[in-house]
Amino acid sequence: MEFPIGVLVSGRGSNLEAILLHIKEGKLNVEVVAVISDNEDARALKIAEEYGVDGYYIPCIEKKTALVGEAERKYIELFQKKGVKLVVLAGFMRILKKDFLTAFKGRIINIHPALLPSFKGLNAQKQAFEYGVKISGCTVHFIDEGVDTGPIILQEPVPVFDDDSVDTLSRRILKHEHEIYSRAIQLFSEGRLKIEDRRVRIIAGSTEEERS
Ligand code: GAR
Repeated sequence: MEFPIGVLVSGRGSNLEAILLHIKEGKLNVEVVAVISDNEDARALKIAEEYGVDGYYIPCIEKKTALVGEAERKYIELFQKKGVKLVVLAGFMRILKKDFLTAFKGRIINIHPALLPSFKGLNAQKQAFEYGVKISGCTVHFIDEGVDTGPIILQEPVPVFDDDSVDTLSRRILKHEHEIYSRAIQLFSEGRLKIEDRRVRIIAGSTEEERS
């Protein structure tokens, strides 16, 4: 079996789709063993189904913004049962709490549509656009107890043009999200990410091409 990953989603699922497509094309050597959504209507669940991946809707009624209580326990149990070695947040709109973080310590990553530490939280593209930055981008990072504060794995800059809107900028950033997320997942699966305090060191690959 390829390296087993679990994906958490809440909505559109374009990052999940990019991951599944890269796997199908042989560009990413992992297996998505479970997708869990906290939203029954998430398009992401349909995408999982289209790709023949097990998708689960598990609601969390206790709280709107965090994964807590009974639901948190179910998420942990399901991923553990499936042997998940990396948890990938792909537009999952809840904060993870201690029990989940402990169960998958150092093995949870997120994609954020801005160059962290700028523009944390919701609507990052809009925040960056309204601030007037000339360069924004996207960030893949490990999850820690804070919101969008964990050690940074990869970042990609994306220019902001004069005639951009929040929408055109978001779409440009999204294309880059789709690329760097798979790259980060591949690096993790190869054991090539080493966290040293706040820094994530990428251990060089073995082929000449990767080293150049
Ligand atoms: C993506 O742009 C992702 O970066 C963002 O939500 C979108 C989900 O889209 N995540 C965050 O803002 C997390 N703070 P998707 O469902 O199409 O992948």
